[in-house]
Amino acid sequence: MKNIIVAGGNGFLGKQFVSFLVKKKIYNIHVIDLKKDNNKEKNLFQYKCDVLNEKKVKKVINLIKKNFKTIDVLINCIAKDYSPNLKNNFSFENLDIKKVKKDIEIGVLSSVIISKHVSSIMIKQKKGNILNIGSDLSFISPNQNIYNEFVKPISYSIAKHGIIGFTKYLSTYLAKYNIRCNALCPGGIYKDHDKRFVKKLSKLIPMNRMAKINELNKAMFFLISDDSSYVTGHSLVVDGGRTAW
Ligand SMILES: NC(=O)c1ccc[n+]([C@@H]2O[C@H](COP(=O)([O-])OP(=O)(O)OC[C@H]3O[C@@H](n4cnc5c(N)ncnc54)[C@H](O)[C@@H]3O)[C@@H](O)[C@H]2O)c1
Repeated sequence: MKNIIVAGGNGFLGKQFVSFLVKKKIYNIHVIDLKKDNNKEKNLFQYKCDVLNEKKVKKVINLIKKNFKTIDVLINCIAKDYSPNLKNNFSFENLDIKKVKKDIEIGVLSSVIISKHVSSIMIKQKKGNILNIGSDLSFISPNQNIYNEFVKPISYSIAKHGIIGFTKYLSTYLAKYNIRCNALCPGGIYKDHDKRFVKKLSKLIPMNRMAKINELNKAMFFLISDDSSYVTGHSLVVDGGRTAW
């Protein structure tokens, strides 16, 4: 069986990907996250690990390699995002720089750290596939008018734009080892959001709605499967047309 690591696989999007992949029964899925889930599927393995702790990451990756021989796919789903339902004040002029640093670490550096250790194994295997998760906000600025008592923080823009640069860098660096690297960039995915927010956001989307959580699965699967064997360095935007407007 092929081995897929889903970093951040117990988050909102990660969990959806994990349950989609687990059902296929042709992969071992290895979830690395701060928290464990109680899903007891036979082909699902969970590792509690802070991905910003490089020593621990190395240990977990080596353990997976030792027990399962190959690492075929890495999906980087770790995030630091804030729900727009919050009343947090992230106004640029009052930024807490410590918080910005931490958010960027989680938003980009976590993917760099885990990709470093996974790619060193993939390079030896001479094959592999890395998928990063960007966003529509990898390409456009957040429209602050859609939020109620919330400001989307600058750290999210920096992290999401950074993910695209990281993806391009890695795709070119790793191509000669037969390792591909792409980014999947979803628009806002509906999850019990405030009605006023949903209405304002929908107006900015040509398809006039947020994504459903299951609408990313097949785009993800395309990028991690051999169906996309000649695709690397690409950002696949799945946003109902928002960035086309
Ligand atoms: N939810 C959306 O609407 C949406 C839209 C566009 C893009 N995205 C992107 O999708 C990805 C996943 O977002 P999400 O909504 O599932 O977020 P989420 O907060 O639900 O999940 C993130 C997961 O990462 C884990 N995590 C955080 N820090 C960690 C660390 N240091 N070590 C290990 N695990 C850690 C968390 O425990 C959590 O399970 C992100 O890249 C996000 O930017 C999400």
